[in-house]
Amino acid sequence: MIKELKAGFEKVFGGGEGARTYFAPGRVNLIGEHTDYNGGHVFPCALTIGTYAVARKREDKLVRLYSENFKELGIIEFDVEELKNVKEHDWANYPKGVIWAFKQEGFNIDGGFEALFFGNIPNGAGLSSSASIELATAVILKDIFNVEADMIKMVQLGKLAENKFIGVNCGIMDQFAIGMGKEGHAVLLDTNTLKFTYAKIELKNAAIIIANTNKRRGLADSKYNERRAQCEEALKDLQGEINISALGELNEEAFEKYSHLIKDRINVRRARHAVYENQRTIKAVKALEQNDIETFGQLMNDSHESLRDDYEVTGIELDTLAELAWQQPGVIGSRMTGAGFGGCTVSIVKNESIDGFIENVGRAYEEKIGYKADFYVVNIGDGARKLDLL
Ligand code: GLA
Repeated sequence: MIKELKAGFEKVFGGGEGARTYFAPGRVNLIGEHTDYNGGHVFPCALTIGTYAVARKREDKLVRLYSENFKELGIIEFDVEELKNVKEHDWANYPKGVIWAFKQEGFNIDGGFEALFFGNIPNGAGLSSSASIELATAVILKDIFNVEADMIKMVQLGKLAENKFIGVNCGIMDQFAIGMGKEGHAVLLDTNTLKFTYAKIELKNAAIIIANTNKRRGLADSKYNERRAQCEEALKDLQGEINISALGELNEEAFEKYSHLIKDRINVRRARHAVYENQRTIKAVKALEQNDIETFGQLMNDSHESLRDDYEVTGIELDTLAELAWQQPGVIGSRMTGAGFGGCTVSIVKNESIDGFIENVGRAYEEKIGYKADFYVVNIGDGARKLDLL
């Protein structure tokens, strides 16, 4: 793969001298959904699929970018001193946004570079292909321009690029999982404090399966921002009487005691999801520590129901996949993962049941929805990094 990418780089940019290879994974969140902008916990892991990049410094100020996934767009070129989000630059606005964020932070990126990207994460599937490109760019910049930034700083700059350059109001989960991921582990991150611990994922006789609804996501960003706003409104109502800075500070009991303070009835449900999902995440990680994978799976199922009924971010495609999964033998748990409104489910399935799972869920999904879902048995990999040993 790397050989092919280097050959691709040579073909596109001429000569491979001095080019280095980098990788940033995609991510899947096991539990803790729509909690990261509510000061709650998340429990994602990095995947072994992701974004590869081959890059080399230039002597002038030009940045020249090419993606094997968007060949028809050719080389996208801009001056490192002129960083604007322009529609025609399409995917290249992500790396551009990261250069912008590094400069905002005061890092000295004053020269150009050229880079070829190739991603094997299914596009728009909610496995964070954009955050993966962002972190791949961050490791390139750090390496080529000798930037003194640790991974957490790069994670924050990836999020800054997404929030302020791209204009998506996301939390920090995706960039964090992609930057800080560790092979065989998920990360329990407290998004309020950025304290985190790694938890070993030992499923013994089971595997993680991602199922892609293949639904086109259209309105996802505006709905995402609407959910954020509803949670913020609920928080404000609560703050009228209690001293909290985020919904994640409440447990279930406290929520039930004070939920009457939330004026809008829909917002009560949004906030209830944020609070209960955060508590579920903490409980799920405890269950995992005790090797109680059944409880972990049950909490995944509960998470889906809450995202379906209270948070309303699932939709018929994700509900169909999850509900079909729950009916299959050997399924420990299944839920939507990521922002929702399309994208993927994540399921934990016993090894001997995987083939039947894919066949049965796949067939029934197509019958009901009218098009196919895709299935991936995935592995948990390391975070963003330079691949060459040199
Ligand atoms: C998207 C965002 C994340 C997070 C999830 C929902 O992936 O980028 O920050 O909010 O949705 O959990």
